[in-house]
Order: sequence, then structure tokens, then C-alpha cells
Amino acid sequence: MNVTVPRSRYLRGEVRTPGDKSISHRALLFSALANGKSRVRGASNGHDVLATRHIIEQLGARVIDGDHELIIEGPRDGLRASPDELDCANSGTTMRLLCGALGAVEGSHLVVGDESLSRRPMDRVAEPLSRMGLEVAGAGSRVLPPLTVTRDAGQLRAIDYVVPVPSAQVKSAILLAALSGDGPSRVTELTKTRANTEEMLLECGIELTSSDVDEGRIVTLQPGRPHAHEWDVPGDPSQAAFFVVLGLISSDAELTVAHLYGGAERNGFVGILERMGASLTRRIVDGCLYLDVRSSSLSATTVESREIPSVDEVPILAIAAAAATGTTRFSDVGELRIKESDRFSGTIELINALGARATPEGDDLVVQGLGSADAFSAIDFTGALDHRMIMSAAVAASAGNGGTLNNVASVASSYPDFFKDLAELR
Ligand code: S3P
Repeated sequence: MNVTVPRSRYLRGEVRTPGDKSISHRALLFSALANGKSRVRGASNGHDVLATRHIIEQLGARVIDGDHELIIEGPRDGLRASPDELDCANSGTTMRLLCGALGAVEGSHLVVGDESLSRRPMDRVAEPLSRMGLEVAGAGSRVLPPLTVTRDAGQLRAIDYVVPVPSAQVKSAILLAALSGDGPSRVTELTKTRANTEEMLLECGIELTSSDVDEGRIVTLQPGRPHAHEWDVPGDPSQAAFFVVLGLISSDAELTVAHLYGGAERNGFVGILERMGASLTRRIVDGCLYLDVRSSSLSATTVESREIPSVDEVPILAIAAAAATGTTRFSDVGELRIKESDRFSGTIELINALGARATPEGDDLVVQGLGSADAFSAIDFTGALDHRMIMSAAVAASAGNGGTLNNVASVASSYPDFFKDLAELR
């Protein structure tokens, strides 16, 4: 699928992004693990979350499409092993969280993904989960998918683990497995990552404490089974970031991005853009974050990776940096190399294609801006299997001088209506 994105300097309107992807995956998994009927309102309609849905159905949960909600019934006797392979498609979150969730399911599973996911390392979850007695086997020392995940009879061992890389997926996989542990588990992260798992496990009745220590956090969890719960999923701040940058670097824009999850670890990009001189107003309405955005002249800054621990927003922030005056440094962002595509080199290629200059310096990415998106070159961009790179290119084309985007179908992994929502602002 190809899309032509015209240059669109005048933009007005309000955007509602799909339901937060992280919260949606967790709401589905926790509901499947619970005994009884849960409801999930506003879940993401992206293919990543659909993959999680199919897998919980294969494991014995009943999922019914209600009116703007999913009704999920977790089996009374718990999830049961599936003889069929569990296909996580393009979704790293599905695969890593599922490895932990399979701690509650006796048996052996073949867990597979698409071409992009099959290149992503799973050693970061395999190592702690194996210590707990949950075997995760894949190819080579980085444990590449397809995976065989095996849980023998008997309880898993509790764990006291320091997560070596800032990763909410790793933390969450361990906490999910720890629900089936033989005692309390403790997970320490040295950099705080998104707190969705802790927040949501507390909401569905799991005994858990979380305390901040310096820049990190220690989470302790007692084994238990989540209660059935009614989940309301707010909008996704990582998707909002595309429209926020679009509004800032388009020459005549007034946009509102509405109804977002407001957690600090997800909204670091807002503070970074404010530091760059963005005209951004934050409002809280019914507990959700609303962002009012106006066209702005941006200037360069230095971005520390701990400000955006999962580095999901780096590609789109690099587009903002390309439209800014001066040289922006994204420090310690090597994690970009093992996302849905190598976003480190992909971002450099995209920025250079726009006519700005991006260079690697070890794990730092340095962008020399052009001072305005007006100066961007038109682009001809081919998307790998990476939704965030496609949306970043679309924003650059729209605010700059247009572009042709090829192979954009995988935008549907997180945001099937992205191009429609973008077009509605013109
Ligand atoms: C996610 C965690 C992040 C992020 C991903 C969603 C989650 O990955 O990139 O899109 O829901 O836990 P890491 O854990 O690798 O940082």
C-alpha cells in the first residue's frame, strides 16, 4: 500500500488517538488470567493488540465484542495450554509479556512472530524467566524467535532481579510470571519505565508495592490471581507525539490531542518539546491529559534517554529537531537498533532525506536542524515493518514539502486510522 502525503501547512482540529497500546495489552492479559467477566472499553484497534486477543482466546479466554467494549471471560480453572502456535505478529509487547503470562499455564508453547519480530532479541526475558523455572528457548545467544516456552508442573520460583536494561516489557514479563511464584518477588529497575503493569495489577487486586529509589524503582509483588475488572483505556501518548510534533512544525496549526494516559514515563516528550520552545498547553480533563498545540519556532536541546525510557518517541522528536534551529543530541539511544526496525539508522536516513543532517556518535544520535519544516525536501520513503517510522515520515512530509510513502500497511500494527485522522486535519 502506497500513500501520497501532500504538503499541508494549515491544520485545525482535535485528534483522538487509539486506546493506549500498553494498557490495552495488559487489560486483555490480566482479564484472561482472572476468574470471571471483565470489560475493556476503548482498547486499541491496532493489529498488535489483536494478536494478544487471538492468543488469549487460544488459551481458553472467551472474548466477545460488545458495544465499544470487549467482554472477556477468564476460565474458572485458569488458562490452559494450546496445541497451536501462538502468533505475536509484529508485536514485541505481546511476545515479551506473553512469555511471563505463560507462567500461569502448564505445558509447552511455540511462540512465533513476523519477520521483524523474529529478529528481535528475547534473551532479556529468557534469562530472568529461566531463573524462575520458566524455560524460554530460541535461536542463538540472543534467543531469537520462534520461541519454545515451557512451564513444568509445580510453582515457579520467586525472584529478586535487577533489570539490566530500562525495559517495561522485561519488568512486566517478570511480574506476570511472579504471579505464579512460590513467594514474593522483587524487581528493581535502575531507570523508571512506564508503570502500567504495576498500576493495573494493583487495580485488579494484586498485592504490590512500588517505591522510587533515585532514578529507579523497586517493585515487590505477592503471588495471586488478578480479579475480573472493568477497564477504561485512555488514548496513547506515544501516538499523540506524532500529532503534537505535526502541529508544532506545520506553519499554521492549532490542534488538540485529547484524552491521553498521563503517566510521567510516557509523557517525557512533552517536556522535551517545551524545552525546545513549543507552544503547548497541558490540561487535565476527567483524569486524562489533553494537549493544545500551536505552530512554534523550535530550538535545539539535548535529550537524555531516561527522559523517554523506551525511546519510542525518538524518531518523531528527531523530525522536530530537523525543523529546529541548532544541533540536537539524543544521548544513549542505542536501544533504537532493536525495535520493530533499526530505528537508529532508519531515523538517520529519514532526517538526511529531508535535507537536514543526522550523524551517529556511538549510541548518540545528533541532528542538525534546518530551522523550519519549510526547508524539508520532498521525500520518497519506504516503510519497513515499522509503524513509528512510517508515521514519522508522514508527519515530515505533511509539515514539509510532501512525499510518497511506500509499503505503509504496517502502520495498522498500532494505528489503523492514522492516515484518515491525518487527512481530517487539513
Ligand atoms: C512497551 C514497552 C516499550 C515500548 C513498547 C511498549 C510496553 O518497550 O517500546 O512499544 O507496553 O511495555 P521496552 O520495554 O523494550 O522499552
